[in-house]
Amino acid sequence: MAADLSTTFTGIRFKNPFLLSSAPPTESESNIVRAFEAGWGGVVTKTIGLHPVVNVPGPKTKFLRADADSAHLSMKKRPGAALHSSWNWELISDKPLDWWVPRLGRIKQAFPQHVLVASVMAGSGNDTELRHWQELVIACQEQGCDALELNLSCPHMDRPDMGSNVGKDKELVSIVTKVVKEVAKIPVWAKLTPSTTDIVVEARGAFLGGADAIVSSNTFTSLPLIDIETLEFEVHVDGLVSTGGLGGPAILPLSLAKMSQLTQAFPDKAFSGIGGISTFEQALNYFLLGCGTVQVCTAAMLDHAIGPNIIRGLNDGLARFIEAHADKGWTTLGDFVGLRRDRVVPQSKIRRAGEKDYRGGYEAEGYSV
Ligand SMILES: Cc1cc2nc3c(=O)[nH]c(=O)nc-3n(C[C@H](O)[C@H](O)[C@H](O)COP(=O)(O)O)c2cc1C
Repeated sequence: MAADLSTTFTGIRFKNPFLLSSAPPTESESNIVRAFEAGWGGVVTKTIGLHPVVNVPGPKTKFLRADADSAHLSMKKRPGAALHSSWNWELISDKPLDWWVPRLGRIKQAFPQHVLVASVMAGSGNDTELRHWQELVIACQEQGCDALELNLSCPHMDRPDMGSNVGKDKELVSIVTKVVKEVAKIPVWAKLTPSTTDIVVEARGAFLGGADAIVSSNTFTSLPLIDIETLEFEVHVDGLVSTGGLGGPAILPLSLAKMSQLTQAFPDKAFSGIGGISTFEQALNYFLLGCGTVQVCTAAMLDHAIGPNIIRGLNDGLARFIEAHADKGWTTLGDFVGLRRDRVVPQSKIRRAGEKDYRGGYEAEGYSV
């Protein structure tokens, strides 16, 4: 019998726990349809706003690669180099809400069993701006979207009341979530920025506002490298660059650390993990730390734009894993979610070699005096 890959997350039934995250792979109707046909359990749309944005000219996303035999890192294409990360300075969808609305409805009608999550973003500086969040939410849920993801995490928005600038402010996170919850009839996921001192603080704000789940990580604030020949940034327009977002393999361990903090602080809450996933082995880290679903961006972009091979590998990997652990009585994802959450402890809880203890620097350590 084939393994059961299905799961329930924030009350929504998923065929499998794998979603395409909000990004270029989910920016068009045809891509979302292809993604569902390829086997993704869910898709989060590219972030939808009320007003169209204007992107920079030239490439908005580039890939940083590492050589096997040297410490060289560069975005220049060359044989034998391995992916290190993606770097982007793309804004939210440049298509307005009116463009998205009929498409969301058509996709949902064609794929009622697949999970369609609308990612939305508005300003949050005053009541009018906050009503924009509600306008976006109502429009998307009327089209049958299954959940909403609040983009509180885009690292390159200029406005102090948008994107990661909201995600860095626990009160604004709480206010936006609460305003959305006032009109939302479907689950609300808050996608937080990793660019804060303690992500648990902002997560608490989101839960206080009524969030049904936390999503982490969005990309990490970063710069492209400077080319030693030209002394220009590897990505620039007229010699100028702004900070952008780092995704892909480089952020996997960083995102896991954020996720570990979150799932330990809120063991009974729902989490969707993102960051550097391209294989089931990598996704498994997020599940074992306590995530109920995971999302993928960079790896999918590099695999026919929507990741048909990536999702096949994820589904096959999950099926094989469940089968391999049948002797433990495991039959579904839920049997092992969170199994390693409590293995991450403070340094002082790690056994020391020999009989001496380390007390976290608070008391005489036993090796002085
Ligand atoms: C080109 C690009 C565009 C993105 N656009 C959005 C977006 O509109 N909204 C959003 O919430 N996240 C956006 N993201 C972030 C991704 O959804 C994801 O959180 C991040 O890339 C980390 O996942 P990865 O390591 O699998 O790439 C974007 C990422 C990239 C690379």
